[in-house]
Amino acid sequence: MKKTDNQMLIIFGASGDLTARKLIPALFALFQDKDLPENYVILGTSRSDLSDDDFRNRVALESAYMENEDQEKLRTFSEKIFYQSIDGYDSNYNDLKERINKLNTSFATDGNYIFYLSTPPSVYKTISQRLSEADLSNQSEGWRRLIVEKPFGYDLKTAQTLNKDLLEFFEEDQIYRIDHYLGKETVQNLLVTRFSNSVFEPLWNRNYIQHIEVTNAESLGVEKRGGYYDKSGALRDMFQNHLLQVVSLVAMEPPVKATSVEIRNEKVKVLKAMRIMNDEKTLFENTMRGQYRPSEIEGQKVKGYREEDGVDPESLTETFAAIKFYIDNWRWKGVPFYVRTAKRMPTKVTEVVIHFKSTPHSLFVGADKDNKLIIRIHPDEGIMMKFGVKVPGQGFIVEEANMDFYYSDIAINGVMNAYERLLLDAMQGDATLYARGDEVEAAWRFVDPILNYWQGTKAPMYGYAAGVWGPEHSDDLIEGNYFWRNPGPNLADDPGYCVLC
Ligand code: BG6
Repeated sequence: MKKTDNQMLIIFGASGDLTARKLIPALFALFQDKDLPENYVILGTSRSDLSDDDFRNRVALESAYMENEDQEKLRTFSEKIFYQSIDGYDSNYNDLKERINKLNTSFATDGNYIFYLSTPPSVYKTISQRLSEADLSNQSEGWRRLIVEKPFGYDLKTAQTLNKDLLEFFEEDQIYRIDHYLGKETVQNLLVTRFSNSVFEPLWNRNYIQHIEVTNAESLGVEKRGGYYDKSGALRDMFQNHLLQVVSLVAMEPPVKATSVEIRNEKVKVLKAMRIMNDEKTLFENTMRGQYRPSEIEGQKVKGYREEDGVDPESLTETFAAIKFYIDNWRWKGVPFYVRTAKRMPTKVTEVVIHFKSTPHSLFVGADKDNKLIIRIHPDEGIMMKFGVKVPGQGFIVEEANMDFYYSDIAINGVMNAYERLLLDAMQGDATLYARGDEVEAAWRFVDPILNYWQGTKAPMYGYAAGVWGPEHSDDLIEGNYFWRNPGPNLADDPGYCVLC
């Protein structure tokens, strides 16, 4: 097991929801698993005027997210939690620095600090600058790291500016851009499935693969995040970051070593090789957007997107995005990739489907089906191969059979959730599962023309009733005699299965 240095985590924007909902529960889980170092301190900071006890109660002892935890252990853990208010993110950080120094001396955290920015991105630059002015980014007396939450930029230009701004005050290897999909075990398993088995890799290319499909569906709508979502949309919220990260893992070349530099070098090459769509005809033919409309699901009325709180009643923000694209490199030349993401679909599911080419010459009735490898990221995590078998009896009639593996069969001690895994990696200085600046920019470079096209008036916006698999014509995006696989919550469910809840 890797060693974790003594250290302090300083959370900016600590009075916000993320700290109580994700960060503290993840840190408590690490504490219970004895993954925190011997000397460890959590210091929350924000503009709210709170005492240490107020903050402990809010995020741990009286937090609704911690109700079911062992209260005795939670009290012991809470002794490591402190709070220091600041006048504003753009103030001087003298008091904060003094508090950090004192805690560092009292708890022997060896001058190692992680600054976690859980604030609006508009203040990322200011905070980094103020930290640097307070000499808190300087690594002469302990290491210093900066974790930044998504969204990382609003488009290519803002992402480039943000990268440049952060790099003025921190080095690239100090910056950890979080993408919680990379913290998911099943996403990491994409690498292991591909590169620890000799059976898949020889087939993993344009010679044997017909097309690749990635679906990310959510059954919920925008809930209480209408204000944020209306300025973002499905393409920015899910596709540019989480789904392109998944694509890069599916499509990358084998790295020379399993290190953060080598793995991220290969991922960025994939993102850079994605064919950018610039003309309107190509954008029209290869992209599709939609928005959910009011509907009734299991007898319950469900609001349409435009009726959600915080959403403009005339909004043209997409809640469904489907993109067909190509990766122009030796391995993938000519293989279409189809990626879709949407809110208010029949079920919550994320999966990758590798469609292999059909046999070159069909001998048997029903043997024209393609072999499929389905990699389930969530839920019912696992992998399933669909292949043809003979129907017992006279003649040679072929039917599809399943060969499957379920992740739950091997995860004996429980799987770390994404935030636990990512926080522990940052504590240990491993940035493999964080996005690098050039990856983020390459992803935006591909997404920007689509955003621009969608902002214009020419791109159609299709409506779909909340609770169905997107716009009626979404299968038209797929070439040839193929359709989206519309899966159910269980890996083995076949398309057509529909859960309206
Ligand atoms: C977030 C998006 O990054 O990911 C949300 O902002 C989305 O809109 C969420 O619901 C999905 O994450 P998961 O892990 O539930 O698939």
